Amino acid sequence: MCGIVGYVGYKSVMDILVDGLEQLEYRGYDSSGVAVMCDEKINVYKAIGKLNNLREELQHHRGEFEKSTMGIGHIRWATHGAPTVINAHPHTCNCGNLVIVHNGIIENYKELREDLAKKGCVFRSQTDTEVVAHLVAQKYAQTKDLAKAVREATKEIDGAYALCVMHNDCKNTLVLTKRNAPLLVGIGDGEFFAASDVPAIIKHTKKAMYLSDNQVAVLTPEKMVLTDIDGHEIKPKIELLPWEPVALSKMGYKHYMLKEIHEQPDVIRNILVGKLHAPDEDIILNEVKLTKETLKKLNRIQIIACGTSLHAAMIGKYVIENYCGIAVDVEASSEYIYRRNVTDEHTLVIGVSQSGETADTLTAIKQAKAKGSHILIITNRPDSAMAREADSLVPVNAGIEVSVAATKSYTAQLMAFYLLALYMAEVKESTSKAELTTLKTELMFLPQKIEQILANTDSIQKCAKVYSSTKDFIFVARGINYPTALEGALKLKEISYINATGYPAGELKHGPIAMLDETMPVLSILMKGCVFEKLLSNSEEAKARNARMIALTNSKDEKLDDLFENIIRVPDVEEVFSPLVAIVPLQLLAYYIAEFLGKDVDQPRNLAKSVTVE
Ligand code: G6P
Repeated sequence: MCGIVGYVGYKSVMDILVDGLEQLEYRGYDSSGVAVMCDEKINVYKAIGKLNNLREELQHHRGEFEKSTMGIGHIRWATHGAPTVINAHPHTCNCGNLVIVHNGIIENYKELREDLAKKGCVFRSQTDTEVVAHLVAQKYAQTKDLAKAVREATKEIDGAYALCVMHNDCKNTLVLTKRNAPLLVGIGDGEFFAASDVPAIIKHTKKAMYLSDNQVAVLTPEKMVLTDIDGHEIKPKIELLPWEPVALSKMGYKHYMLKEIHEQPDVIRNILVGKLHAPDEDIILNEVKLTKETLKKLNRIQIIACGTSLHAAMIGKYVIENYCGIAVDVEASSEYIYRRNVTDEHTLVIGVSQSGETADTLTAIKQAKAKGSHILIITNRPDSAMAREADSLVPVNAGIEVSVAATKSYTAQLMAFYLLALYMAEVKESTSKAELTTLKTELMFLPQKIEQILANTDSIQKCAKVYSSTKDFIFVARGINYPTALEGALKLKEISYINATGYPAGELKHGPIAMLDETMPVLSILMKGCVFEKLLSNSEEAKARNARMIALTNSKDEKLDDLFENIIRVPDVEEVFSPLVAIVPLQLLAYYIAEFLGKDVDQPRNLAKSVTVE
């Protein structure tokens, strides 16, 4: 989603801004812009589409900003108003003296806009952001103090925002504030950076401070002054950022997505380090802060998540119920937050999120927390807003994921659920020691199995070629792999734009079977286990309607050769862990199809990596 970069210091600002925006490109955007303090005044440059268009625009003006050492930049993912140059950020007040960039949504922008229009403000864009520019400018006219003006303005704003503000009168000053949207300050020597996410600044500094809601930071090359919304000074909490710049390189792969798919065996190994030493030893999960007594008595869990994380949560339900005997509900965060929710201090609420910033999940977590539930967060970003709400924080350590389509973070979330479920089963003694030992042994072999798949992708590439011209695609599975079918379909539609759907195979005959004919590929996720034969029968039913049958399987059953026109084989694995093994070929299938169709794999249209608006 939108991204912010800012700089004040002594270096040439434009490269820092544009390069920073490039590092945020993965979040998804449809226009971009920068504002820099030039000799006499602030200049604004904007373009629609990819950053290259902005770079081209800047080429025509190089002479104007070469010496400039302060500025702000933005990539915009359109919410209010189409992706046009006028709607792109930065936005200015009427006289152009004040310039802002904004992430988030101003919920009361209509009321504010009407009010400001009455006072003589002329609006040029359709955005919610422009009202903030006018509002802060008005407050500045009264106070002649930019930080105060920002503080006063935000008192009138409802909604979510990360804001970066500059004014012609304040030649070396950036003012920042935020509420319910991330914003951090990078600290250098004689320079400060502002960013909505770490990748934008990690090249320059690892020293940073995350702004808390309603704090206002005033940055000049020499110092940072942090205050609360009433202007009282606060001591900044400075920390070291965890990311290495190398994580942001493609390391020779054509796309980040392919690189991230290939990182999965190592991600699993990393997660196991320190948590599972040997199959006959207990799992160590010190991150879970519930006492063993509370865990033993726990009889209800709610898991909330969005997108790919929701699919990981669905598998989490299956595993926890199976091994711990605790009832688990899974719900999309966006559904959870707008109804009366029955949760209390006896319920464990688990939030799952790659980014830790997804607005719906964050709201859901806050609601559950207010009702007294223990909040356990599974996230790839221990530095995120969600992590800060956690009573128990289980970081998944997948390393930064750049491609919009989630792959390695999904695998990491599944691993977190396996460890959590087995840990709780040990504490509750709800599964026999012998079975737990078998499961832990298998867990330790998973990386090799995924490596085998990654080393042998011929059958997957062949399928990608054969089916890349299809308009629709159906994935079916049962039991623990039903969420795998959903995730396989999600990956395909996200990056290839093929209309792909996942169904529980038993539901085929209750409607979807009507769509089957000789043009429809149906991929059955046929992993050995309790539903294998059932799914085979469902696949027969589909074949009888002439569908183009594909199997993803770990079975060597010869019956499959007659039933399926293409078979993707994966290594043998315990049924409970089969989702981890089965998802990798589906990620690759989606990748190769999208790549074959020439799609923008890492930055699919209309999608954002981190969805910070509801
Ligand atoms: C966006 C991303 C998805 C992701 C979902 C949930 O839609 O494009 O890849 O699964 O958000 O994000 P989260 O960060 O909460 O896992």
